[in-house]
Amino acid sequence: MDLHLIPGAVASAEEKEAVDRVAGRPATGWEGGNRRPKSEGHTATGGHAARDRRHLLLPALWAVQARAGFISPGAVNYICQRLAVPPADAYGVASFYSMLSTEKRPMTIAHVCDDLACRRAGAETSCAELGTRLGPPGAPVLKGAAAWHRSPCLGMCERAPALLLQTAGPNRTDRVLAPVDAAAVVAALGEERHGPEGDAAGAAARRSGSPSAPQTLDARHAGLRLLRRVGRVDPESLDDYRAHGGYRALRRALDLGPEKVLREVLDSRLMGRGGAAFPTGRKWDAVARNPVKPHYVVCNADESEPGTFKDRVLLEEDPFAVVEAMTIAGLATGSERGWLYVRGEYPLALHRFETAVARARARGYLGATVLGEPFAFDIEVRRGAGAYICGEETALFNSIEGLRGEPRNKPPFPVQAGLFGKPTAINNVETLANLPEILLEGGPAFAAVGTEPSTGTKLFCVSGSIARPGVYEVPFGVTLGGLLDLAGGLPAGRSLRAVLLGGAAGSFVGPEALAIPLTFEGTRAAGASLGSGVVLVYDDRDDLDGALLRIAAFFRDESCGQCVPCRVGTQRQEELVARLRAGRPLGGRAAEMALLDEIAQAMRDASICGLGQTASGAIQSGIRKLGALGGDGGGGGR
Ligand SMILES: Cc1cc2nc3c(=O)[nH]c(=O)nc-3n(C[C@H](O)[C@H](O)[C@H](O)COP(=O)(O)O)c2cc1C
Ligand code: SF4
Ligand code: FES
Repeated sequence: MDLHLIPGAVASAEEKEAVDRVAGRPATGWEGGNRRPKSEGHTATGGHAARDRRHLLLPALWAVQARAGFISPGAVNYICQRLAVPPADAYGVASFYSMLSTEKRPMTIAHVCDDLACRRAGAETSCAELGTRLGPPGAPVLKGAAAWHRSPCLGMCERAPALLLQTAGPNRTDRVLAPVDAAAVVAALGEERHGPEGDAAGAAARRSGSPSAPQTLDARHAGLRLLRRVGRVDPESLDDYRAHGGYRALRRALDLGPEKVLREVLDSRLMGRGGAAFPTGRKWDAVARNPVKPHYVVCNADESEPGTFKDRVLLEEDPFAVVEAMTIAGLATGSERGWLYVRGEYPLALHRFETAVARARARGYLGATVLGEPFAFDIEVRRGAGAYICGEETALFNSIEGLRGEPRNKPPFPVQAGLFGKPTAINNVETLANLPEILLEGGPAFAAVGTEPSTGTKLFCVSGSIARPGVYEVPFGVTLGGLLDLAGGLPAGRSLRAVLLGGAAGSFVGPEALAIPLTFEGTRAAGASLGSGVVLVYDDRDDLDGALLRIAAFFRDESCGQCVPCRVGTQRQEELVARLRAGRPLGGRAAEMALLDEIAQAMRDASICGLGQTASGAIQSGIRKLGALGGDGGGGGR
């Protein structure tokens, strides 16, 4: 196949080496190696094998970006030869992700979060100061060595404002710092340039994010299940994990066998924690029964919903639990291969999970015979590269497969045709983290906690105007007010204006909602949703109008653009919110509100995926329920 390579563009030795680390050394001249005229003069071999490696496209692009700071035309050519992908196609993929660049840029990039929790903690002031001190976003500073950019939520909202610092090169580092102000960003950039080099520095940097303290109803942490080991176990030690009860559940699962494991999960009535609240047992059952083979298990760790950080805490602090849970899922669904897709903004979670997989494999907990039993299971890890939409399950499959992360039409559903077109059980990290618990105590006992439709405990990401922000684990049914009390209530002198429940894709509720029980059914009855577990608190001094504009900008930016209602609707919605915020409504407020409702309706009715369908909920609720942007709703203080 003629790939139509870019004329005259040749990869450097470093770029080739980076790609070869991902794709292996090229076997023939046709796939980028040295051509042997005698044996390969007239015939091309290896095309099929190369095309089968298309799923290595994103890792290869990442490898080059991390080595050279950007993806040059020469590097694109080499990747395309290695994987038999036309450059036009590869550019389409590379340009889809915000963390990848096909333009030359400085080796160090400071991603400064300006999303919801960070805004209310002063990120806009920091960005203005950075603009004065360093120039506009993207402008090279420090003699061309660095630049800063604005970033959506980095999943560190409990310590807002947050910064992700990435330095490319032979000793690449990725680290997250929080909280930071403008001075700290400037200082971190300076350190990056002059600081110690080498792997040790990289490892230290990755470790610099300390865990957030787990919180529960019980002061002695007796109520903790999912967070039981967080902060108490060495996340890089398999022995420590086992000493804290790890791998007992997998042993029981192997003793029970796949059908009985499925029975326990069905009996537990576990509902997915990724936002859609689908029964996990039914999903697994459908995959297990599907005669098409192979089957896959996918763990969704994309966690890009602004205000969400629970999956990060689980992966950073208890990664073996996720490995164990995925292995149990593999057993129950008849899958031999699992994939974890983690967002690009989580370097520590990536490092800890990869370490856990390697150590589990080395000790026989993954591989051809798990724990010496006739059951094979192994896990591959994929790093996202800055795209909220890749959390949508079918977009995530496309991203793993080396395509643009655009959602697919459903049906077929993932249990019918998911990753690589095969039956796939995809679950959120928190959903899977419940599995060891279910196996150890049994499905019915698990279902006895919480409420009838919402069983077990739930992690909530509490941030914003609250005394003790963090990840809280409570049984389903605790009220919103109860959760806020648990987190210490609002800081002295502040009164409650609103809570953003479920993230940007969720909705705002006012102080009258404090009695809502935090369950799937309770929030639904109140016209809200639990979403990904975001509880972002706004007080009477917060700029709610600014938050609505940020949400509108977020959806406009993150829409994949595939369907017109969402692509155009999110754009028009942002313009409308900006007009209202500026006090310049077009044709009066009533006309603007009617237009907003019409846009929202069109996006709900005609968008392919949940992004477009939920892109207006928070904005409409903010205006209607809380009187934001000059609306007539509103509630009192707490
Ligand atoms: C725009 C969009 C973003 C999503 N992001 C995530 C995410 O980051 N993590 C997640 O687990 N699910 C996310 N989902 C939901 C997934 O599509 C899917 O329902 C989920 O991974 C299934 O797992 P569960 O059954 O364990 O909840 C998202 C959905 C949409 C529409
Ligand atoms: S609704 Fe939006 S994000 Fe989803 S597929 Fe359509 S354009 Fe893409
Ligand atoms: S880390 Fe900035 S909003 Fe979440």
